[in-house]
Amino acid sequence: MAEVVHTPRVFSGIQPSGGLTLGNYLGAMKRFVTTQDAGDMETIYCMVDQHAITVWQDPDKLRHATRELCAGFIAAGIDPEKSILFNQSQVPEHAQLGWIFNCVARMGWMQRMTQWKDKAGKNTQNASLGLFAYPALMAADILIYHATHVPVGEDQKQHVELTRDIAIKFNNDYGVDFFPVTEPVIEGAATRVMSLRDGSKKMSKSDPSDMSRINLTDSADDIAKKIRKAKTDPEPLPDTVEGLADRPEARNLVNIYAGLADLTPEQVIADHAGQQFGTFKPSLADLAVAKLEPISAEMSRLMQDPAEIDRILARGAERARTIATPILKRTYQIVGMVGA
Ligand code: AMP
Ligand code: TRP
Repeated sequence: MAEVVHTPRVFSGIQPSGGLTLGNYLGAMKRFVTTQDAGDMETIYCMVDQHAITVWQDPDKLRHATRELCAGFIAAGIDPEKSILFNQSQVPEHAQLGWIFNCVARMGWMQRMTQWKDKAGKNTQNASLGLFAYPALMAADILIYHATHVPVGEDQKQHVELTRDIAIKFNNDYGVDFFPVTEPVIEGAATRVMSLRDGSKKMSKSDPSDMSRINLTDSADDIAKKIRKAKTDPEPLPDTVEGLADRPEARNLVNIYAGLADLTPEQVIADHAGQQFGTFKPSLADLAVAKLEPISAEMSRLMQDPAEIDRILARGAERARTIATPILKRTYQIVGMVGA
């Protein structure tokens, strides 16, 4: 069996299931932009609306959130000419390959997923079948482009590993070397941005407390207020990063500072050692406002022309399909489907 060498290609997705948070920005989007601008790999970024509906979404809100997410991508620096930017449901090959992967993946693999356990809660019988099968669709998102690199936040590592398992099982079952074994790319200071109210929980768009997160659409005043009120401990900042070990809230604020300023946590500590939070928080708030306000302003500007956003998404879907269609056709041939 000849070893297939796959061209390096980057894919990642974000769910349009509410507003974007600082966690999405630092853990995902900002890194998507860096990868795009490095220019050495093709970059494909997707609004995964079919993932969003694994839990209930009001149709008008879903449409709005998808367009707003697209505006967020562009405002953060994704150039729809340089990258392929689109929404999942406009490229039906994702769902088509997803079905094949539903037949490759095993129930036991899905049952182990921590996101399933968290999102399904106690009453698993009442969760949607889509929520359970979610990681197989995610594998299809990635593998329908033969993507080799997937930049994500820490919380998605398990899903990317499952994508590798699906690719390996498919290749073994059919005796081919067709799908690449994808690498998760999880790097930087802020791959796990935590809640501002509880350093043990990740910052999330679905947290009931708005004070727990910074939204990319928050006003400068809201950003400053949320940082001022963020939970901390009474100690000043330590002299070394090791001194943050048992201080999750303090560590989170240092990581956020590092992510926003493109510094390492070590550099942030070197500059702010011994400071009280009364001093550090206002510096962090100024930095956050300076970095996020231009993005938020650009998002509102783009949202005034939803027709233009829809054109960008349609064009992105067309470009995505030129890659996805032949890969789906070849998959159908491998599986033995007549007519492919
Ligand atoms: P989601 O909003 O769940 O669709 O997540 C989209 C991307 O943002 C994924 O790559 C996540 O890993 C990343 N992400 C979401 N929340 C956080 C967070 N609190 N810290 C770091 N990355 C995050
Ligand atoms: N599961 C991801 C999340 O909840 C979103 C996602 C869907 C994704 N498909 C993907 C991320 C493919 C990377 C690659 O954040």
